[in-house]
Order: sequence, then structure tokens, then C-alpha cells
Amino acid sequence: MGADVETVWWEPGAVCLIDQTKLPHTQAIVRCRSVEEVAEAIRRMVVRGAPAIGIAAAYGMLLAVPDGGAAGAEAVLERLQQAKATLDRARPTAVNLGWATTRMLRAAQWLLQQGAAPDLAARLLEEAHAIKAEDLAMCHAIGEHGAALLPDGARVLTHCNAGGLATAGYGTALAPIRKAHAQGRRVHVFVDETRPFLQGARLTAWELQEAGIPQTLITDNMAGYFMRRGMIDCVIVGADRIVANGDVANKIGTYSLAVLARAHGIPFYVAAPSSTIDLSLPNGDAIPIEERDAAEVTHVAGQPIAPAGVPAAHPAFDVTPHELITAIITERGVIYPPFQEHLARLLADAPGEPAPRGA
Ligand code: MRU
Repeated sequence: MGADVETVWWEPGAVCLIDQTKLPHTQAIVRCRSVEEVAEAIRRMVVRGAPAIGIAAAYGMLLAVPDGGAAGAEAVLERLQQAKATLDRARPTAVNLGWATTRMLRAAQWLLQQGAAPDLAARLLEEAHAIKAEDLAMCHAIGEHGAALLPDGARVLTHCNAGGLATAGYGTALAPIRKAHAQGRRVHVFVDETRPFLQGARLTAWELQEAGIPQTLITDNMAGYFMRRGMIDCVIVGADRIVANGDVANKIGTYSLAVLARAHGIPFYVAAPSSTIDLSLPNGDAIPIEERDAAEVTHVAGQPIAPAGVPAAHPAFDVTPHELITAIITERGVIYPPFQEHLARLLADAPGEPAPRGA
């Protein structure tokens, strides 16, 4: 367990997840044996974080493949299309979910065209394993590129959890911090608790503690105080979707941090793999923002904290306009404005998804 915890893995017939709703005090495993169970685990945030839900959904697609290749290709593809629709609906904001299910569906189409029906399940399992392995490699590369931005003694503020738990391992926003720490540089992390789901307090603080990285946990409304006192050198956050003009959807509260960072002249970095980039949307206004149950605002750990029946709102994400972003740290390097041009070039230069295993 700890900093290198495996968040999502496959056992025959089941997608296995560390239950992130119970961390840090209880380390429980949830085994999902149907597509619907995987979708429900994503909805309930048993697994959360853009890359991690993509990986869970990729494995989840396997639960729609009938054993032994007895069903015809059309019937199998129909089942996979339905599975994709169910999984994609689970959470709307992170593009990694649809990205991963699309990749699995395309791999199935290609394999069936090649007459690989009898071992479709095994071949698709290899594809899901590849999605996970590539994500881990991207996190390490993000760490290398991002660590170069952190001088010795850097004090970094982060929001939500974009660590190993939110990915195949190692994280996105936490990766530069972990690399700099591993390289022997002193880094201190200010961790926003991240109301209302408390990913910062419960998950990021736990990961940093396990990794032995110095930190200070703060409530979200303390960020401006520490910036004003000159105690924050930069902000690094993850992303759920980065669109064509460089606008970024991330955990609710990210936008306010970016405004604060600009007001104090502090660099604001977004760390994300290329699977989080969605050039099909022109700007952040087009990003679907998940609305979650207001009970997550009126209650903490199941305990009511507000008068019974009080109306509450819970948009789970917000959009940070690209003008407020200093740079985007990807696995292929650090991108600076103009983001529209540099993101398009980044994806155009990318080798693209590898062909399905064995192709
Ligand atoms: O609602 P969550 O916990 O899934 O939101 C997670 C975030 O906003 C992360 O910053 C983002 O998904 C990047 S995770 C590497």
C-alpha cells in the first residue's frame, strides 16, 4: 500500500478497486463483476480521478465480452457498445472515461475483423493492461518534466487528489513533487482539503505521508492567506478535461485558486496526460459539468452539518480559463501559451494509440 498503491486491477471475472470512499482509515477492496457494478463504483467514487476511472472502465468493458467467442461478432459489438454507453454515463466531466471505452471498442472491432473472436477476451485484456501501463509511464514522464519547474525548497499548493490513487500510480499533479523529492530536492506541499468530498485531506495527505514528503493540510479558504504571505511558490493541479483552447476542467475550487494565483503573481501549472486532452471541444463552456448530490455538501462523513432541508448546490468541477494557466505539464513536455496552437501540435506529433496487441 502507500504511495505506490494499486488503485485498479483485474482478477478473472472482476474489476478490483481500492475503495477510495473509505481511505485513509480503512483499506478495503471492492470487486465489480458486471458492467453496471463498475459504472456504479465510478458514480459512487469508489474509484475516482480522471485516468483511474478510464482504466476501471477499460477493464469494465471486459465484463461485457461473452466467454469462449460463441456469440457472433455483431452481438458482441452490440454488447460492448451498450457497456460503453453505461460506463460513459457514470461521470460526464473527465474525458478519459470515454477515451478509454472508445479505445477498447475500436480494439474489439479490429480484432473481430481479423477473425480473433475465440480469444477476444484475452486480447482485450491485453489492451486494458496496456492502457494502464501507458498511464503509469505517462505519470512518470509528467514527473520528470514537471520536476524541472521546481527549485530546491519549492512550496507547492495542490488541490483535490491527482496522485497515484487517481491514476495507474504515481499521479499527475503529485508526480513532479514526487520526482523532485526523489531527486533530493526539498519540497513542501500545501494540501487543500478539497470540500466537499475531501480528496485532499483524505487521499493526498495520505499519499504524501506515505511517501515521506513534507506537507501542511489547509482548508480551501486558506489558500489566499498563504499566498499573500509569500508562502506559496507555485500551484500544481490535475485535470479532468483540457479542451482545444487550453481551458481546463478540474475539481471545483480550481478556478478560484487560479484567480488567486494570478492576483499574487504565482505560477499556476496543470499536469495531465494526453488522454485528458479533448480537441473536439472548442472551449471550456462546452465541457459538461457533473452535478452531484447536494447531500455531499450538507453532510460530512454521513453527519449533517447544515439545517435539515436547506437547499445546497454541488457542481463537482469548474473550468479554469486558459488565460490563467502558466503551463500544462504533459508526458511529452511542458506546453506554454498559445495553448490552442501548442496542444494541437502536441497531439498531431503524438504517435497515436498503439494498434491493438498482436496487430
Ligand atoms: O471528483 P474526482 O475526485 O474524480 O476529481 C478528481 C480531480 O479533479 C483530479 O484533479 C483529476 O481527475 C485529475 S486526477 C490525475
